Amino acid sequence: GKYRVISTKPMPGSRWIRLLTDQDCRVEICTEKKTILSVEDILALIGDRCDGVIGQLTEDWGEVLFCALKRAGGSAFSNMAVGYNNVDVGAATKYGIAVGNTPGVLTETTAELAASLSLAAARRIVEADQFMRAGLYDGWLPHLFVGNLLKGQTVGVIGAGRIGSAYARMMIEGFKMNLIYYDLYQATRLEKFVTAYGQFLKANGEQPVTWKRAATMEDVLREADVISLHPVLDKTTYHLINKDSLAIMKKEAILVNASRGPVIDEAALVEHLKVNPMFRVGLDVFEDEPYMKPGLADQKNAIVVPHIASASKWTREGMATLAALNVLGKIKGYPIWANPNNVEPFLDETGPAPA
Ligand code: GLV
Ligand code: GLV
Repeated sequence: GKYRVISTKPMPGSRWIRLLTDQDCRVEICTEKKTILSVEDILALIGDRCDGVIGQLTEDWGEVLFCALKRAGGSAFSNMAVGYNNVDVGAATKYGIAVGNTPGVLTETTAELAASLSLAAARRIVEADQFMRAGLYDGWLPHLFVGNLLKGQTVGVIGAGRIGSAYARMMIEGFKMNLIYYDLYQATRLEKFVTAYGQFLKANGEQPVTWKRAATMEDVLREADVISLHPVLDKTTYHLINKDSLAIMKKEAILVNASRGPVIDEAALVEHLKVNPMFRVGLDVFEDEPYMKPGLADQKNAIVVPHIASASKWTREGMATLAALNVLGKIKGYPIWANPNNVEPFLDETGPAPA
């Protein structure tokens, strides 16, 4: 191979490797045992000749690495993730490195995990499973693990982009929930879906579902029974959910986060869970991954899973393929899938921000 391409982790499937090796690339996959590579580890990988890198969301891609990649003759970096809060795109641009991410292929898989967490929290699945395994079940009781009925309740979505909209659709169609959402952009296609589904239910003599685009995020927090967070992580969404926002949520609300950990002030959440036993949370991401804030693991009203929202075989192979194509495309001068340098905020159709 003419070009040297590095992947900082082994990735699922073999298609991504074939795509690269078929097109003049030599692929080197880092086999380092430790889960999170440091900047020094990656510098050593890049060495003095490297054309492109496929990296992971656990790595800090900033000034140091992009400068080194440039010096090694590189021109392309792709995150194997849709989120790229771990990437300093400004620094990449300064060194002429194109940056790619992997949207699209993980939309439904990630939304399904958020829906799973919503259901698991509503019906207390994890607590009930632990109870069963502990040998505590000694017969059916009218009050055993009573949870929330979703039908007719309101699902709140904060960030109604690709993933947020897919999640909303699942909860609305699957469980006949009403929608309230907050986003700077209008989710026109989602609104049309809810309207049409409401008409369908009405025609069948059922209570129609409704939608509302909230003027403020606080309206969603106050009105929704199940709230799922799907914003990008940046300065404006850091600790979006904090002590004050938790305080205005319903006492029996369910909060789900499969976006990025720092969107929630996790220490404040632990305090809130302690004093509100009926408030339940489903978390896929954490503020200081891989750690949890003290006390979180002791809360029965919290369900915690290790950042697995995009973890379906099809999606992970798709993410690897896209990441490889991003790097290959830049090296070979083909148009690339997605480049955060010029990617548009996702929406099916965009509209003006609410006044
Ligand atoms: C995973 O967290 C991703 O952003 O793809
Ligand atoms: C519960 O198991 C019921 O049959 O009502």
